[in-house]
Formats: sequence, C-alpha cells, structure tokens
Amino acid sequence: MRILLTGTDGQVGGALRPLLAGHGTIIAPSVAEFDLSKPDALAGRLDDFKPDLIINPAAYTAVDRAEDERELAFLINAKAPEAIAQWAASRRVPLVHFSTDYVFNGSGDKPWREDSPTGPLSVYGASKLAGDVAIAAAKGPHLIARTSWVYAATGANFLRTIARLAGERKELRIVADQIGAPTTARAIAAAITGIVVPNLANLNDLFARKGGVVNLVCAGETSWHGFASAIVDGLRSRGLALAVETVVPIATADFPTKAVRPGNSRLDLSRLKADFGIATPAWQDALARELDAVKPLLA
Ligand SMILES: NC(=O)c1ccc[n+]([C@@H]2O[C@H](COP(=O)([O-])OP(=O)(O)OC[C@H]3O[C@@H](n4cnc5c(N)ncnc54)[C@H](OP(=O)(O)O)[C@@H]3O)[C@@H](O)[C@H]2O)c1
Repeated sequence: MRILLTGTDGQVGGALRPLLAGHGTIIAPSVAEFDLSKPDALAGRLDDFKPDLIINPAAYTAVDRAEDERELAFLINAKAPEAIAQWAASRRVPLVHFSTDYVFNGSGDKPWREDSPTGPLSVYGASKLAGDVAIAAAKGPHLIARTSWVYAATGANFLRTIARLAGERKELRIVADQIGAPTTARAIAAAITGIVVPNLANLNDLFARKGGVVNLVCAGETSWHGFASAIVDGLRSRGLALAVETVVPIATADFPTKAVRPGNSRLDLSRLKADFGIATPAWQDALARELDAVKPLLA
C-alpha cells in the first residue's frame, strides 16, 4: 500500500504522518516535489508516485492573505484538488481531502450539516468550496472531511498566538460572537486514521457507499473568546507565569479583518458517528492534551 500524504509540514499532515506509519509506504513529498500551485504538473508526479491512496491536507490556509492572492488560493485549493481527483478517479484510487466551515455564510445558530447550503464569505472559503465541488464532479471514491478552527502544539495557530500574547500583555481582546469548535490536528488525524486504517483493503467500497463530505470537528462549541480564556486558564494551571490579567470579549465589528468570517461555524457531527462510528473528543479535553504538549515548548 503506497500512501501519498501531502502537507506533512502542516498541522493535519504532520499529525497524520506518525499515525499512518506502519500501515504502508508513506510518500510525503516536499512542496517543491508536489507543488499544488502548479496543477498541470500533478498528474505526471502522481504517475511517478503510483499511490494506492491519496490523503491531501495541503492547502492555501492564509485566510486574510487570500483576499489579495485569489489566483494562487484557487490554484492550490481548487485546481490542484481537481487535478488530483481526476487522476485518482480514472484509476479508482481513493482520495481523502479536507474542507472548512468557511464554505458557509455563518447565518443562524444551527449546526451546519454536510448538505446545508453553502455561501462562502471569503476568497479562502470560495476556493475551498470550489475544490470540494471539483472532487465530487470527478466522481471517484473520495472522502472530504470538513473541519474548523484547527490548531496544534506546534505551528502558527490560535493556541500559539494566545500563549505568546498572554505572556506579553495585561489585556487580551478576543472576538466573542463567532461560534465554532476548536479542533486539534491530533483529533482530526485520529479520526481519519480510525476510518482509513481498518478499511485499507476496501476503501473504494467504503467511499462509494459512504463517501462525500463528512463533518469532522471536536465536540461542543465555544467562541474565540471562550477558547482564548480556556487557553489562558489552562496555561496558568500548568504553572506558566503569564502577564495577562483579563480576556475581554469583543464583537467581530470591533476586530476588522481583511476576510469576512462566519458567525456561526457550528458543524453537525451526526454523520461522522452514524456512518463511521467515530466520536471526537470534547474540545476542552482535546485542548487539555494539547496544552500538556505545548507547555515544554513554551517554558
Ligand atoms: N487551519 C485551520 O484552521 C483550518 C480550518 C478548517 C479547515 N482547514 C483545512 O484543513 C486542511 C489542513 O489544514 P492545516 O491547518 O493542516 O494547514 P497548514 O498547517 O497551513 O498546512 C498546510 C500545508 O500545505 C502546504 N502547502 C501550502 N502551499 C502548498 C503548495 N503550493 N504545494 C504543496 N503544499 C503546499 C504547506 O506547506 P508549507 O508549510 O511549506 O507552506 C503546509 O504543509 C486544509 O485543507 C485546510 O484548508 C484548516
């Protein structure tokens, strides 16, 4: 079993790599060796790699910068997945890909289901949605895990940003009217491994029956303010000396960003449980595990 895994320097790809090791030959190309910004070259590279399974967490994830780099975001997030999916579909090679809560317009307060109407508010969201649509159109065996608010003990993410700012500032002002589920790359990788590894011999059948989009986030919900407060409390209870005294809730309108973000990022987890038997950890439990992992890196 030859498993092509992209984005291994990123959060989800980095978490998947050790979990997949031992279940096949992992082909983990560098960006230069498999550059998603050059979609026309990908089929040739795939011919060389000859994967039996493709897992593609690599993406253009700079949400605000994408507003100024629309073409590059669409090359990496839409055209590249399209090229990979077409190559995979023509050879019946199963493809696992990743999507985002930013495909939704954020209205209301109900969790989004996999078939809820999309309406991206940002270039990043639109580029990711175009990738999801192109993969479905290729009609090969595929699974698209739709996730949100991804972080890990390493890398550039909200946990690391709050940990740094909490060491420097007395007051943090954090958006409290965007609601979603902070999700560790570790939890995503565990769920994907739980779906893929027991079914390596019959992934085509599985994805033909139960493929398409599946929501994959940690359980529960909070705001960015709730998440930041839990990070600060968790760091302090682990003995880290912090400068921060208050975490002030603010409105999205008080923290303008280049890209518009959805207010409601809740994702319904029913399908993950019903079709794949996977229950993800509560976001607070996943955070506790990640804080244990991040502590030695901050001290
Ligand atoms: N991060 C989030 O909050 C979030 C939320 C919802 C959904 N998602 C989705 O979840 C998936 C995994 O995200 P993540 O957080 O693991 O992303 P990440 O940490 O930003 O990692 C992305 C990876 O893609 C690679 N990459 C970027 N441009 C590339 C190119 N032109 N060719 C090949 N590789 C390239 C990056 O390499 P370099 O590091 O070398 O640039 C990096 O290894 C993505 O599909 C993302 O859209 C993420």
